[in-house]
Amino acid sequence: MIRKLLPYAKKYRLFAILSPLAIVCEVLIEVIIPLLMSIIVDCGISGQSLAEKESFIADILITLGFGNLAGTDLILATGGLMFGIAMISLACGAGAAYFAAKAGMGFGAELRKGIFNKIQDFSFSNIDKFSTGSLITRMTTDINMVQMAFMMAIRMLIRSPLMFAMAISMAFSINKKLSLIFMCIAPVMFALILLIGAAAHKRFTQLFKKYDKLNNYIQETLIGARVVKAFVRSKHEKEKFRVSNDEIKDASIFAEKLIILNNPIMAVSIYTCIILVLWVGAKLILGGDMYLGDLMSFITYIQQIFMSLMMISMIFVMSVMAKASMNRICEVLEEKPDINDENADESATVKDGSIEFRNVCFKYSKNAENNVLKDINLTIKSGETVGILGGTGSAKTSLVQLIPRLYDTTEGEVLVGGRNVKDYKLHVLRDSVSMVLQTNLLFSGTIEENLRWGNENATLDEIRAAAKIAQADDFVMSFPDGYKTDLGQGGVNVSGGQKQRLCIARAILKKPNVLILDDSTSAVDTATDGRIREGMKNLLPDTTKIIIAQRINSIQHADKIIVLDDGKINDIGNHDELLSRNEIYKEVYFSQQESKMEQ
Ligand SMILES: Nc1ncnc2c1ncn2[C@@H]1O[C@H](COP(=O)(O)OP(=O)(O)OP(=O)(O)O)[C@@H](O)[C@H]1O
Ligand SMILES: [Mg+2]
Repeated sequence: MIRKLLPYAKKYRLFAILSPLAIVCEVLIEVIIPLLMSIIVDCGISGQSLAEKESFIADILITLGFGNLAGTDLILATGGLMFGIAMISLACGAGAAYFAAKAGMGFGAELRKGIFNKIQDFSFSNIDKFSTGSLITRMTTDINMVQMAFMMAIRMLIRSPLMFAMAISMAFSINKKLSLIFMCIAPVMFALILLIGAAAHKRFTQLFKKYDKLNNYIQETLIGARVVKAFVRSKHEKEKFRVSNDEIKDASIFAEKLIILNNPIMAVSIYTCIILVLWVGAKLILGGDMYLGDLMSFITYIQQIFMSLMMISMIFVMSVMAKASMNRICEVLEEKPDINDENADESATVKDGSIEFRNVCFKYSKNAENNVLKDINLTIKSGETVGILGGTGSAKTSLVQLIPRLYDTTEGEVLVGGRNVKDYKLHVLRDSVSMVLQTNLLFSGTIEENLRWGNENATLDEIRAAAKIAQADDFVMSFPDGYKTDLGQGGVNVSGGQKQRLCIARAILKKPNVLILDDSTSAVDTATDGRIREGMKNLLPDTTKIIIAQRINSIQHADKIIVLDDGKINDIGNHDELLSRNEIYKEVYFSQQESKMEQ
């Protein structure tokens, strides 16, 4: 798993290496400072000579020419040296933190980019599998967790064991007998903290699951904000949120309750140790077997030892917690997009807008029992206008989604321009098959920017020409800012019918070979709908137009109309043929005529 994620840190490896290097310097200095302290106390204050002091730091000081100094002079000189190296240690510490932050944040950013790019390649069914809310949680909460663990690992993974080893060897070199005291207490504390960490981990995992739920829920409520208001469900939604929010609060308190035990355990261990050391140490000093300065530095080492043990246990807990997040990230990174164009012919281009379905069967999931589309055979000539009619759930959308390969067939094949859709590179196919989805969406940005999704390099004239066909130009020009009008997130500041027309314009701007309108004029009045059809017929003569509609009006002039019933083709013919022979068509036609008469 780590091997899978490490490449994302590659760009920042210099910082990831510099940080531990700076930390090594910092730790070395931190370990030396108590030794200098003991020199100040024992040689500067108590009058012991440097030569008598059996420590390597005293030897170094003698080589530095401190051997002749005594009293205040020695205190000042050693103090000055201590201050100097303390400053270096400070700089190293700050540098290490800076490098670690750069490496950690960079790693996080690369991971986010990696997941985002991966999701762009996902097919609808890949996205269905994870759910949008969960993908968002993975890109935010989980990446934050991994990024923090990575930063902590860079800083602490070297620091704590190194500090531990150095402080222990220093303490032993000062006094072996005294060292036995912490050798008894420290393992007990370490084991206790590890136990707490392991228990807390379980509680934190539960907590993260609750966050998942809350994120999914917030996302749904925000997207559905209008529905919530329309159905006056705010109170109910607030209550649901309160329950979910309280669950997180309780779970956090439950988990933190364990973690707060760390501090008292740590404090009791350190102070027990210090009291025992002072007690035994005082006896040693009185017996002349130890100096006061040594005892003081010994106590500092004890603190360093316990601190590093505490850190090691924290790294352990953090890494276990980050592992769950890493798992969730890897799942996304390892997911194979089930629609890909690995076997496509690089040079294939879509010649024309002809379409053929050969014995096509389709279901959304492999495990589903029944096919949604059953044995579809169909030929559409390039440039034809084809209407599709059928009740809700009769698989109209499912049928047309197979043409731009939003889903792949389960059996049989779909051909566009005379070749299997799988032969084309996906971008080639989708550039040439433009589909206005039933649940269409505009993005934040100006109208012009939204239309340019269809063709980045289109001139304003081309954009307006497309908008004119879609009957969108008039209302866009009536806005004070025209095509520069800013659409809110999701295109909130245009009406449903205006949004549909902009989506059609966006699709037309691609100059596709095949244009699919999936119930795309449902919110447009009949007269405007008629003008859109007229415009497409006259100005896009070579484009194959597939129109799914509930209104017979919208498709009655089509070259052929496909009647779908429960995933099967019930009939194909033009308006007159179907009206004379097809029961479903007749029923829909007459019911719509009747309602027209009533109006
Ligand atoms: N993403 C999906 N996953 C699983 N099943 C789906 C999915 N989308 C649609 N279905 C199922 O496929 C069948 C056909 O749905 P489809 O959306 O193609 O119908 P439709 O004719 O377009 O209906 P409508 O007129 O309401 O748009 C339905 O029974 C539906 O439950
Ligand atoms: Mg549909």
